[in-house]
Amino acid sequence: MPSVDLLSPGRIDGFDTCNRMFMAPMTRSRALPRGVPSDLAIEYYGQRASAGLLITEGTAPAATGIGYARTPSIDTPEQIAAWKKIADAVHARRGRIFMQFMHVGRIAHSANRYVSDPPVAPSVVRAAGQMWTDALGMQDLDTPRALDTSEIPGVIAQYAQATTNALAAGFDGVELHSASGYLPMQFLSTGSNRRTDGYGGGVHNRIRFVVEALEAMAAAAGDASRVGIKISPAMPFNDIQDDDPIETYTTLVKAIAPMGLAYLHVLRTPPLPTIFEILRPLFFGPFAAGGAFDQRSGNAMLESGGADFIVFGKLFTSNPDLPERFAVGAPLTSFDASTFYTPGPKGYIDFPAMSGSGSLP
Ligand SMILES: Cc1cc2nc3c(=O)[nH]c(=O)nc-3n(C[C@H](O)[C@H](O)[C@H](O)COP(=O)(O)O)c2cc1C
Repeated sequence: MPSVDLLSPGRIDGFDTCNRMFMAPMTRSRALPRGVPSDLAIEYYGQRASAGLLITEGTAPAATGIGYARTPSIDTPEQIAAWKKIADAVHARRGRIFMQFMHVGRIAHSANRYVSDPPVAPSVVRAAGQMWTDALGMQDLDTPRALDTSEIPGVIAQYAQATTNALAAGFDGVELHSASGYLPMQFLSTGSNRRTDGYGGGVHNRIRFVVEALEAMAAAAGDASRVGIKISPAMPFNDIQDDDPIETYTTLVKAIAPMGLAYLHVLRTPPLPTIFEILRPLFFGPFAAGGAFDQRSGNAMLESGGADFIVFGKLFTSNPDLPERFAVGAPLTSFDASTFYTPGPKGYIDFPAMSGSGSLP
């Protein structure tokens, strides 16, 4: 079998990818008021179109899912129209783009939201920590309100509607953000899910929200192969904690493996360094591995058969043409964490491509 590396073409059910590199979903906090992506994002994503697949920044399926300053949504005609310009710019450069749905659940502050209702979560368990607000500076995270059982179908329906909206805007598919301590992970994890109904308690109940969200997204898309999922087992970010992440995530992956999803995107974090080896055999479709990869380690992972795609985050912020640089062994520009979340073009669209072409020959 010919060896596979980052620059080999790949395939997700339904379309080919020009290489094995995904650009990771990254919140960049440049959206306009009321969740509308700005025109800067057209340039930003267009510059990065040579990734095999771009995954957008976390985007709220509806306004109630917004928690951070200047983050976008996909539920109003204005938002959908703005996203369409972004998808079009990527397609004009022969790129592929999925939209990530990020409902933050309890990781929110009211000053960042344009709806008056408090953030929702599986249970009334406040996450320790603070977040930035433009109006008030750093603030303690809000205490969430617990979703009533009767409300959960409505939240699931928001993911379905967002899928319809994203595909109408021209996206190639959608990704459920079930990582990093946001709403779906809050349902999965014992520390944040204290429910006693069918969505809490044993592992089969805790995975129910994620499974139902994926089913609803696949039904809305008409095809599960346009729906991916991101997970980050055992990641402690956003004060999330699970008593037995291996049980939780092996049960989840076994449950979703038969669905025919576009891919399983796994972020490896230090508490569980063997997670790829644990989950890869349980999932039959494309497996995308992320977390601190570089060219050497990404190629080694692909060559060993440990993953089908490698997800790069921070390196793509400062190297819009990362695949071209890997192809010729060009030096990489260091990323600048101080401009990850600041408004405006600086640190966002001003990292030049090596040749200025922005696409592989
Ligand atoms: C500025 C920034 C914003 C991020 N925002 C998101 C996000 O919106 N959704 C998400 O799933 N992960 C987010 N992440 C995590 C990345 O998707 C990725 O998993 C992580 O950076 C590890 O990959 P890396 O080591 O290649 O950067 C973010 C990371 C960074 C650096």
